[in-house]
Amino acid sequence: MITIAVTNQKGGTGKTTCSVNLAAALALAGKKTLLLDLDPQSHSTISLGIEKNSFTASMYDVLIGNISLPSTLLKTEINGLFVGPADINLAGVEFEFVTRPNRENVLKNVLTKIIDIDVCILDTPPNLGLLTINSLCASDYLIIPISVGFLPLEGLKRLLDVVELVKERLGAKTKLLGTVITFYDERTRLSKESTEEIQRFFKEKCFKTVIHRCVKIAEAPSHGETIFTYASKSRSAKEFKELGKEVLKYV
Ligand SMILES: Nc1ncnc2c1ncn2[C@@H]1O[C@H](COP(=O)(O)OP(=O)(O)O)[C@@H](O)[C@H]1O
Ligand SMILES: [Mg+2]
Repeated sequence: MITIAVTNQKGGTGKTTCSVNLAAALALAGKKTLLLDLDPQSHSTISLGIEKNSFTASMYDVLIGNISLPSTLLKTEINGLFVGPADINLAGVEFEFVTRPNRENVLKNVLTKIIDIDVCILDTPPNLGLLTINSLCASDYLIIPISVGFLPLEGLKRLLDVVELVKERLGAKTKLLGTVITFYDERTRLSKESTEEIQRFFKEKCFKTVIHRCVKIAEAPSHGETIFTYASKSRSAKEFKELGKEVLKYV
């Protein structure tokens, strides 16, 4: 199993959108895929059509040790795509883990219980707290969605520094798979300029597929659907299929 953390401590860069639709693209390409929602806001869970009160155990119960990960996983509408749901209790992990030994590697240890899955995507919260650190420690690769606009690289140096620190101090092995440019709008010069800036900085570590700003992709979550069922002919569906193809080379 290859584990990919989708991360960026800035909110609203497209982490959840990329996690959900990339996971769906990989499942549709025949990979048995797991999406673990590690954000207390539960947006990945909700985006996959799973209602808040429809499950009894969440990733919180898994991390705290109340229940095993396999028995928490839920099926989704997409064949071969499973989700480990989040709920608001996850917000307490930060505090509840304070005295726990090896608290940065809890998720990594939990993932050893998973068999028969090809790829596991981790959707992370918009901060560099313990859930994100656990995701860095548990992952083989990182995908960083970056929204184009004013100062697109702002904050990324801090993220890259934290990744290095986590590798040095905690023995994490994660590697940057690539950055994904999101919210691209070809009508604006700012989009073009900040894309060039991102590509100059990350060079070959920037996925070729660019995710354009698109109304359909913003609408899909409130219908509890991925872009592939909500608007299969949309530009976003094509883009996430392409991104999936790029990622498939590694899984
Ligand atoms: N390419 C896009 N075009 C238009 N809206 C988008 C796009 N990507 C994400 N959104 C919307 O922007 C908001 C933030 O995206 P989200 O994926 O939740 O970011 P994050 O998880 O990084 O906070 C959501 O409402 C989402 O539906
Ligand atoms: Mg999110």
